[in-house]
Amino acid sequence: MEKIVVRGGNPLFGNVEVSGMKNAALPIIYACVLVKNKCIIENIPGVRDVTVSFNILRSMGASIRMLSKNTYEIDCTNIDIESVPVDSFRKMRASYYLLGAELGRMGRAKVGFPGGCDFGERPIDQHIKGFEALGGVVDLENGNISIEAKDGKLVGTNIFFDLVSVGATINIMLAAATAEGTTIIDNAAREPHIVDLANFLNTCGANIRGAGTDMIKIKGVPSLHGCTYAIIPDMIEAGTFMIAAAATGGCVRINNVIPKHLESIAAKLDEIGVTVEELDDAVLVKGSHEMTRTSVKTHPYPGFPTDMHPQMTVLLSQAKGVSYITEGVYENRFRYVDELRRMGAQIKVDGRTAIIEGGEKLSAAPVKAVDLRGGVAMIIAGLIAEGETEVEDIHLIERGYDDIVGKLQRIGADIRKVILPDDENTLAKAN
Ligand code: UD1
Repeated sequence: MEKIVVRGGNPLFGNVEVSGMKNAALPIIYACVLVKNKCIIENIPGVRDVTVSFNILRSMGASIRMLSKNTYEIDCTNIDIESVPVDSFRKMRASYYLLGAELGRMGRAKVGFPGGCDFGERPIDQHIKGFEALGGVVDLENGNISIEAKDGKLVGTNIFFDLVSVGATINIMLAAATAEGTTIIDNAAREPHIVDLANFLNTCGANIRGAGTDMIKIKGVPSLHGCTYAIIPDMIEAGTFMIAAAATGGCVRINNVIPKHLESIAAKLDEIGVTVEELDDAVLVKGSHEMTRTSVKTHPYPGFPTDMHPQMTVLLSQAKGVSYITEGVYENRFRYVDELRRMGAQIKVDGRTAIIEGGEKLSAAPVKAVDLRGGVAMIIAGLIAEGETEVEDIHLIERGYDDIVGKLQRIGADIRKVILPDDENTLAKAN
């Protein structure tokens, strides 16, 4: 068992490099299943969800080789869906991209029911609706999902999603890229990782237009070829460092970003009195000791990202006045609030809104990561709290942050990762 220990009080200063985007890398890794050849993917982040995905593909017969740091050769020429390790699917949500990829490659697919962060009910009805529209016959049994294309081949069609879903948009793009005829996805998600997946697939020979708008047109092609492709920078990792810099009253240049992707975050920081300077492929964030309240509502892109919600709550706990954060994507993303309250934050939750009485000093406490972004929010809280905060269950943070401890240390944070000795481990388990 490991934990992160943070001593608060150091303003962050210097340069930090952002890694490749987890939520783009995962669908692109699974998209390699569609390609009967080698793909070389650059800028893959060193995060646990990538490792789990590589293990899933390897156990199905894929060959995955590291060529250099963050660059991998993925060869799915000889995969076999019968050997898919269904139990691994409970570890992460994105594993369900295998459904679209296997269907596109073989006309049939089988995966375990997907896990991921607990934000209340997370149905996959829109994925199923899309697969069925393309001619898939779906069977949900014993925690597994099996889909078989009628006559062995999916056929393009028009699909109107009832709500905006990143995962469903990606899954249908994967399934439709090599289907017969044309698929039109209406009410599609517009996130940068949707565009990145479309760019990757097009580089492999697919014909996908309109990614980044709410209507995506996919003309099926008979097959895809290998390519070399670099993943875009992680806007959520970048946003997390922006907030850490602001919360500590520091000044940090966040490098390797696409500033356009950060506009909704920069706008909110600007509103509360934090300075964000946009550079070519970097942003410079200067904290302020006079932050003022605001209201935030999370939305699909280009709105304020739900994956920045817990980090923003920590920042607003330091802004003068009463702030509101309304969660517009998930039914329940507030489990981190109890942990923050242990550190002295004054936060009430009313339905889907957190009401934050700002300006209270935080004090160190033992807390845990309740999920990926809720976990990193505890690290930010630790950076500004008086005393030494211990964050447990950090495997959840490592699912999506590449070397978070090292990167924060290099910009001046007093933070370290501690491996608990065995007896403390046993005691922790007993409690
Ligand atoms: C992805 C991201 C996650 C991010 C989320 C929203 C990955 C691996 N994960 O998750 O980090 O928080 O987008 O930006 O990229 N829904 C349905 N039916 C469906 C599908 C979704 O009701 O079939 C609902 C969900 O419960 C949720 C909302 O739609 O309330 C949005 O979910 P979705 O965009 O699908 O999120 P994910 O793809 O799971």
